[in-house]
Amino acid sequence: MALTQSGPARDGWSSRTAFILAAIGSAVGLGNLVRFPAEAGANGGGAFVVFYILCIVLIGLPVLLSETLIGRHGQAAAPESYRKVAQNSGRSTAWEHVASLGVFSAFVVLSFYCVLGGWVLYYIGTFVADLFTTGVVGGAFEGSTVEEVEGLFPAMISDGVTTSILNLVFLAITLFFVARGVSGGIEKVAVYLMPAFFVLLVGITIYGMFGGAMAQTLDYLFTFEPQKLTGPVMLAAVGQAFFSLSLGVAGMVTYGAYVGRNVNLGVTSGIIATADTTVALLAGLCIFPIVFAAGLSADAGLGLMFQTLPHAFQEIPGGSLLGLAFFVMVGFAALTSSVALLEVPTAWVIDRFRFTRTVASIMVTFFAAIVGVLCALSTGMLSDWHPLGFLPMFEGMGLLDTLDTFTGKITMPVGALLTSIFVGWIANKRLVDAENGLGGALHVFWRFLVCWLCPIALAAILLVGIFPSIVA
Ligand code: PHE
Repeated sequence: MALTQSGPARDGWSSRTAFILAAIGSAVGLGNLVRFPAEAGANGGGAFVVFYILCIVLIGLPVLLSETLIGRHGQAAAPESYRKVAQNSGRSTAWEHVASLGVFSAFVVLSFYCVLGGWVLYYIGTFVADLFTTGVVGGAFEGSTVEEVEGLFPAMISDGVTTSILNLVFLAITLFFVARGVSGGIEKVAVYLMPAFFVLLVGITIYGMFGGAMAQTLDYLFTFEPQKLTGPVMLAAVGQAFFSLSLGVAGMVTYGAYVGRNVNLGVTSGIIATADTTVALLAGLCIFPIVFAAGLSADAGLGLMFQTLPHAFQEIPGGSLLGLAFFVMVGFAALTSSVALLEVPTAWVIDRFRFTRTVASIMVTFFAAIVGVLCALSTGMLSDWHPLGFLPMFEGMGLLDTLDTFTGKITMPVGALLTSIFVGWIANKRLVDAENGLGGALHVFWRFLVCWLCPIALAAILLVGIFPSIVA
């Protein structure tokens, strides 16, 4: 096997649908299914949800279109694409470092994301085992107390050996698809898994509509109480919006680089953002009715998915099967996202060092495995290690939470802020307009959002959100 390649033989999506499914696959993931309900629950429901939707439409969507158009213009890994846009606009190529920050963020997110992917594998295994012991008819975990079921989670995360191994398994599955290339691997996983994911999500949500506490859920998720909209809640919502749309990590730039010239990026960005937001809301409508029907509380953070929900499955007929279907669905979503996360640094290594895809993807996976194992251990034997604990924002956090907060609340919004300035003010207007696929009033509105609203809102939210929490 040759270690390096001589010329960039470009691989790309085989169709527009493949691109849309892969981009939705990247966007829809643990962010929608685990983080969105957890953040909504922890930040008071409606205020967070309404502000989140505003962030998606007014900030996320314009940045999503900006990222994909940079990628399509550059037709290369993210830093190279930023460089080409800058060069063709007669501007400093130093702008490529916005993408370097993105590649770094993608690597960091990949490292801890696959730890969570490993947790999902653990629960899939747990529900499979339970299906054999409890059977299909009754509630899950027959004969176990609530404490035993909820205790599965702390027991799992403190067992660093198991979580490290599962992290490596999840990374290996991710590597398998990325190493096979864009049309041969990345696209395949999305084209098969995303439809399966949607069927499972809609099925479980319909179950919740009839069998769960739907009215209470709607009230909880959509009652807007403005007094709950504080600086930290706004920062959480904007961070979540970027995380969920895979923005600020150069991911959509990377995927945009494989898109053909015949695709209208304005339209596809709208489809991707709509699908992602629909899935986040459906995740809320899927999880909370089951949780409320069992009389449980919504604000358990990560415990919502890994403790509250398994407990709720105990109370439900067919709980073992439903629980298994649920975690398989979460696993599918997580995999299509981790594939995108691995592709960003892999594409960069291929472009920068001219390594073959196989070598590049294995190298990135190797380093992600090291950071990942440290993250896996940070909820167990390394729990007293608080890498940035001297800053109030990261006080008391282990490595996994530190990296999650650092990327979600700092590097991703900063990357998105700089991208909107780049597309709005630095890049040549005609170059940008030739790529964005928008016309008439929509075009004027998008320009207004990218030039003014995105930078100002992002800078303001970063200031109110980060500085009080850094200094407070
Ligand atoms: N958007 C993914 C999610 O919601 C996470 C992700 C972030 C994937 C950045 C790719 C790039 O889970």
